[in-house]
Amino acid sequence: MQYTITLSHNRGEMGVEGRLRLVMESALTARDRVGVQDFVLLENYTSEAAFIENLRRRFKESLIYTYIGSVLVSVNPYKELEIYSKQHMERYRGVSFYEISPHIYALSDNTYRSMRTERKDQCILISGESGAGKTEASKKILLYYAVTCPAHDRMAALGDRLLQSNPVLEAFGNAKTLRNDNSSRFGKYMDVQFDFRGAPVGSHILNYLLEKSRVVHQNHGERNFHIFYQLLDGGEEDLLKRLDLERNPQNYQYLVKGNCPRVSSINDKNDWKAVMKALPIIGFTEEEVQELLNIIASVLHLGNTQFGEGEDGETHITTETQIRNLTRLLGVDGSALREALTHKKLIAKGEEMISPLNFEQAGSARDALAKAVYGRTFTWLVEKINQSLALKDEVYNSSKGSSVIGLLDIYGFEVLQHNSFEQFCINYCNEKLQQLFIELTLRSEQEEYETEGIAWETVQYFDNKIICDLIEEKHKGIISILDEECLRPGEACDISFLEKMEDTLGGHPHFITHKLANGKTRRIMSREEFRLLHYAGEVNYNVSGFLDKNNDSLYRNLKEVMCQSSNQIVRQCFRKEEVIDQKRPEMAATQFKNSLMKLMEILISKEPSYVRCIKPNDAKQPGRFDEVLVRHQVKYLGLMENLRVRRAGFAYRRRFEAFLQRYKPLCPETWPNWHGRLADGVSTLVNHLGYKPEEYKLGRSKIFIRFPKTLFTTEDALEAKKPAIALTLQTSWRGYRERAKYHRIRHAVIVIQSAWRGMKARRRAKRRRQAAELIRRFIKGFIYRHEEYCPENEYFLDHVRYSFLKKLRKNLPKSVLDKSWPTPPPSLIEASEHLRWLHMQNMMRKYCRRIQPEWRKQMEQKVVASEIFKDQKDSYPQSVGKLFLGTRLENEQINLKVIQTLGNDKVQYGVPVTKYDRRGFKARPRQLLLTSSFAVLVDRTKIKQRIDYPALRGISLSSLRDGIFVLHLPNEGQQQKGDVVLHCDHVIEAVTKFAMMSGRTNHVNISLGSIRFALARGKEGIVDFIRGSELKVAKGKRGHLLVVSQG
Ligand SMILES: Nc1ncnc2c1ncn2[C@@H]1O[C@H](COP(=O)(O)OP(=O)(O)O)[C@@H](O)[C@H]1O
Ligand SMILES: [Mg+2]
Repeated sequence: MQYTITLSHNRGEMGVEGRLRLVMESALTARDRVGVQDFVLLENYTSEAAFIENLRRRFKESLIYTYIGSVLVSVNPYKELEIYSKQHMERYRGVSFYEISPHIYALSDNTYRSMRTERKDQCILISGESGAGKTEASKKILLYYAVTCPAHDRMAALGDRLLQSNPVLEAFGNAKTLRNDNSSRFGKYMDVQFDFRGAPVGSHILNYLLEKSRVVHQNHGERNFHIFYQLLDGGEEDLLKRLDLERNPQNYQYLVKGNCPRVSSINDKNDWKAVMKALPIIGFTEEEVQELLNIIASVLHLGNTQFGEGEDGETHITTETQIRNLTRLLGVDGSALREALTHKKLIAKGEEMISPLNFEQAGSARDALAKAVYGRTFTWLVEKINQSLALKDEVYNSSKGSSVIGLLDIYGFEVLQHNSFEQFCINYCNEKLQQLFIELTLRSEQEEYETEGIAWETVQYFDNKIICDLIEEKHKGIISILDEECLRPGEACDISFLEKMEDTLGGHPHFITHKLANGKTRRIMSREEFRLLHYAGEVNYNVSGFLDKNNDSLYRNLKEVMCQSSNQIVRQCFRKEEVIDQKRPEMAATQFKNSLMKLMEILISKEPSYVRCIKPNDAKQPGRFDEVLVRHQVKYLGLMENLRVRRAGFAYRRRFEAFLQRYKPLCPETWPNWHGRLADGVSTLVNHLGYKPEEYKLGRSKIFIRFPKTLFTTEDALEAKKPAIALTLQTSWRGYRERAKYHRIRHAVIVIQSAWRGMKARRRAKRRRQAAELIRRFIKGFIYRHEEYCPENEYFLDHVRYSFLKKLRKNLPKSVLDKSWPTPPPSLIEASEHLRWLHMQNMMRKYCRRIQPEWRKQMEQKVVASEIFKDQKDSYPQSVGKLFLGTRLENEQINLKVIQTLGNDKVQYGVPVTKYDRRGFKARPRQLLLTSSFAVLVDRTKIKQRIDYPALRGISLSSLRDGIFVLHLPNEGQQQKGDVVLHCDHVIEAVTKFAMMSGRTNHVNISLGSIRFALARGKEGIVDFIRGSELKVAKGKRGHLLVVSQG
């Protein structure tokens, strides 16, 4: 199956990165088209050959992972694959299990997400033969969590410590075996605790059954635990000197048995550095490291401790140096150690008994001590690591609701040439795990059927409970018999144990011995062997060493010596209470059984996931697929059984929404979207696809498909449909994008518009409010306009004033003659008058300033004329508009003789006049000349009469239009001829000038009707004035002069 859409025709629009990713993904998917990536999709699922063929085909393409449902099968590639990078981790994050090719990261991520979403503890069980890749798998899982999980700030270093604890554990617990250069010689269960945010906050390790026998003995081609070689190869000179060690491992008895000091794939020197770097990180003090190394060195020295047999058969130690070193390094009493290595101390009936050991017994005691010291130190080490990884109190309190992921990396089924106590325990363990596996798988399968409401079809499977019982049952089981035999007083030995089993278990279908077997089997079984028919196959166990290994005893006096040690680690490993306590400690097998029970409890409370590791060949070679070997493992791992259970009913199941989502393009009713119930959608879809009733079933939330073929047909149909879908998607996407763009723009326009309109409306409203306010104030002011200036009317009054002043400014009179003036408001009447006056003054001043002296004279004369004649004489108004001339007679018109006669008195003004005689009123033309101090009447060349200004009494005129004027002269005296009656066409001008020059302006009389004038000798004449049609001056009745003037 492949789930990556290859939009090849769409590449033009993608970025480089996207393209790269696409190429990678399609390569990945293409490769994953090899075989099936989930065994449940194997058509012939019962065929082991088909199963192995699928594994092989994938392995050849370096596809090492394949699923069986949710179980991950992993084949050791024996080469570095480029599939563990950070990018790969990212790719598997949050992706559904089936969407992308199988991977250990997919399983890790799925487990992590189940823990987070379902809030249920999880465990990952990794099993497989030695060298199949279990430890590598567990490391990959841990690495995945360390890299991808959020980090807890206070626990930032946890991931680091978690990863660093690995090289240390491996140095002390791993060894090179024939099957694996880095074989874990202990079982490991590790809990990783996560807080509510999903950050790892703590961790705990449980270790199982360290293969202690390796400390003192190794098979050919194998090595002791790595740490010994690392120390000798990597330790500095000083250190080795202090520990009194030599570089060459061949010098140590405990390291020479396998005859394999160097392994090409192992670099002890580098590993040593890694371990020394890791120890302080995990929290080891300098002192603890030294003490730990002292113990390691002590084990080597113990191995080189030799015994000799004295003449009387007593055993003694021949290598004093070793004892000295041991004494120094372990901080124990030398002689006590020497004594304890050669004697045993027993307590019988409350009494201590000391008896010497023979040569062989002494050797065993020494080896037992070495094993005990190493084994207990290893346990101490694990505890120490646990302390470092432990969930700290503060964090614990804040991480309520935390969850756990457990990782079990434990030895797989082991079938060797010679199988002993260890293989028995290991296989027992696998038997238990298989039981758990079957139980949990079946249970979850059955639960799923139930929740989905599908009838459960009974699955035939082999229940291995019978074998577990055979081993562990109380009183009757093999472990009970073994314990009993160990405790039995008298001569118990391995053979008696075998016989006891034959007695008790004879006839059990899964138990056979040489004696119980039929002829054919008997031939291939030795007399010391018993055979168990495990769920995975038959295994023959050799009983020799069973009792000893189960006893795992250390003589009391050796324990006592160790209790006294000044080495803190040894002191913690060998406690005083143990020596004082009379109760026998539990036997090894029972201990193991109990710890397994506890492990089962732990596991059963969690949601399990499985990784099944397979080793493709024994030669640790890449690319080699040994079918026989693989078939063996497939069988022993129970993979076919697993597949059968998984495929019992239906090959494939998927949640409705996932199924519909994927295949909806294949049916017009469900494409592009189904709006009804999901179940109906799926039903419509499968009907359209033509599924037959026996091919599928619909549960409550999932569809179950019985045959893989059905699914593949559907998948192929989808593949064929993809280009069309891509096109549809493209078009609708583009349409959607454009529509979205249009809507965005439209929305923006509306927003801008409404904001603008809002603003405008607000402005208008504000203006209106202000206007209303103004009007209100105005009206109020108007009402109160006659009151005193007060808040109610201040605005109004101010406004009236202001507007009057403004109006005034525009309408000021332009000339002094303009008498207009705007009407002031009542409050401004006074000011208005003031202004008016000021303005007038101003205009006048300006006018006066502009006046020339000529004009000024003219004006003065006009003013005087006005004072004299205004409203007095009818001809005055006509005269106002005519300018007064300087003179009406130029010098040329005046007789030269006259001018000469006048001399210095210059003629200021001259005008022709008519003189009427005093009697008869005869008219005679004359010239009237005015000088500055007198006036003269001239008749052509002769001055007829001189009138001195002071002598002038007055001047009289009529009120009519005529030009007559009378000069009143003094009449006392002889020479006086009387007043002079004259007529002048320019009477106003002439009289004005005359009056001014003579200073007689106040003596000008305007008479109504007639003028009396003096004649010589006291007589008087009268001039009468009347109105008529034309001017006429003539002698009238009674001797009066009658003047008719127009009018
Ligand atoms: N996924 C893998 N990729 C590359 N090499 C692997 C992988 N798994 C295992 N190996 C190789 O196989 C060896 C044995 O693996 P290991 O995990 O120690 O086996 P086990 O723990 O099952 O005994 C490793 O040292 C390593 O060289
Ligand atoms: Mg391992």
